[in-house]
Amino acid sequence: MNTLTVNLNERSYPIHIGQDLLGDPALLSPHIHGTQVLVVSNETVAPLYLEQTLAALTDYQCATVVLPDGEKYKTLETVNLIFDALLQHRFDRQCTLIALGGGVVGDITGFAAASYQRGVNFIQIPTTLLAQVDSSVGGKTGVNHPLGKNMIGAFHQPQCVLIDIHTLNTLDDKQLSAGLAEVIKYGLIQDQEFFVWLEANMHKLLQRDPVALSYAIEHSCQCKASIVAADEKEAGQRALLNLGHTFGHAIEAGMGYGTWLHGEAIGTGMLMAADLSHRQHRLSQSELERTQALLEAARLPTKIPTEMYSERFLELMAVDKKVQAGVIRLVLLDHIGASYVSDDYDPQLLRDTLDAFHHAAH
Ligand SMILES: NC(=O)c1ccc[n+]([C@@H]2O[C@H](COP(=O)([O-])OP(=O)(O)OC[C@H]3O[C@@H](n4cnc5c(N)ncnc54)[C@H](O)[C@@H]3O)[C@@H](O)[C@H]2O)c1
Ligand SMILES: [Zn+2]
Repeated sequence: MNTLTVNLNERSYPIHIGQDLLGDPALLSPHIHGTQVLVVSNETVAPLYLEQTLAALTDYQCATVVLPDGEKYKTLETVNLIFDALLQHRFDRQCTLIALGGGVVGDITGFAAASYQRGVNFIQIPTTLLAQVDSSVGGKTGVNHPLGKNMIGAFHQPQCVLIDIHTLNTLDDKQLSAGLAEVIKYGLIQDQEFFVWLEANMHKLLQRDPVALSYAIEHSCQCKASIVAADEKEAGQRALLNLGHTFGHAIEAGMGYGTWLHGEAIGTGMLMAADLSHRQHRLSQSELERTQALLEAARLPTKIPTEMYSERFLELMAVDKKVQAGVIRLVLLDHIGASYVSDDYDPQLLRDTLDAFHHAAH
């Protein structure tokens, strides 16, 4: 097992990464302060891992909530199911919530923990690659509103993140690839060496080689942890984590949420950001090609849907949260491993990127 720390002064917390950590009481108990624990999972993950998780919690008064599975249940109504359970069991302010599942369960449970009795402790046990390398670390929690994704939320850091790599064995291939998009993102935004490592080891990650997976997850968490420690509330540097996301969110929204997985849309979105960076004479042609090749090696899509016309993209990108004073802010690349936030790119070049991807889609 390896342990990293997210350094946030009195709110610092460990990320434990290893195999078969789920049933280990010694990893959870230091982070549970009261006697009451609510484990929140969903109908897919609970049959696989709930029993093992509860086996580590025999010293506590435990309750469980099993949510329906899917992004479409990431709503305030679902948060209310958690409040119902907490109140029915008379859970007090010392209670601990444990999120056992992917990013959807983690975001909902974290938000419930942020608001129950104005904030109680919570622990993340992420079970998708995306949740292990991204959503479980950093304290962003929340749910969707019919008018916008992740529009209702709070910053609430967990007490601990427990990553059991073993849980990835039951994840389907598409979800694994979607998680790899966020892994590649860390290489692109700030770590050229890691990008090179990914180029050499992508086949091992797809085969779920535990040594390769551990390395990639640790490295990704380290990258996210250092960015979050430097800029918890996204005043600056944390925005770099949005590479590809303004393009990707437009694909997700344009196609209807759930049609494209988030990671798939972000993969294509990062290639679009790389393309624009190249047109801006920052990223070289060969770096652009390497970016495309690595995304393809991860079995991620690199073409946009044919129905995504440039106008539609611009319209959807303009409603993204990252818009300030009417200008779409984008994360662009100087090189592989060096990124920056820009709102003074040439708008014609953005059009050219969108048009080029639209042509290539046919
Ligand atoms: N808070 C953040 O900083 C942050 C960052 C990125 C993404 N997110 C959010 O995360 C969500 C996406 O997370 P996700 O990709 O994990 O999706 P998800 O939670 O929907 O999980 C994907 C699917 O895999 C299933 N699953 C989970 N673990 C499994 C396992 N071990 N074996 C088999 N099946 C398993 C789930 O039940 C689900 O059907 C989005 O809502 C997104 O907004 C949040
Ligand atoms: Zn993302």
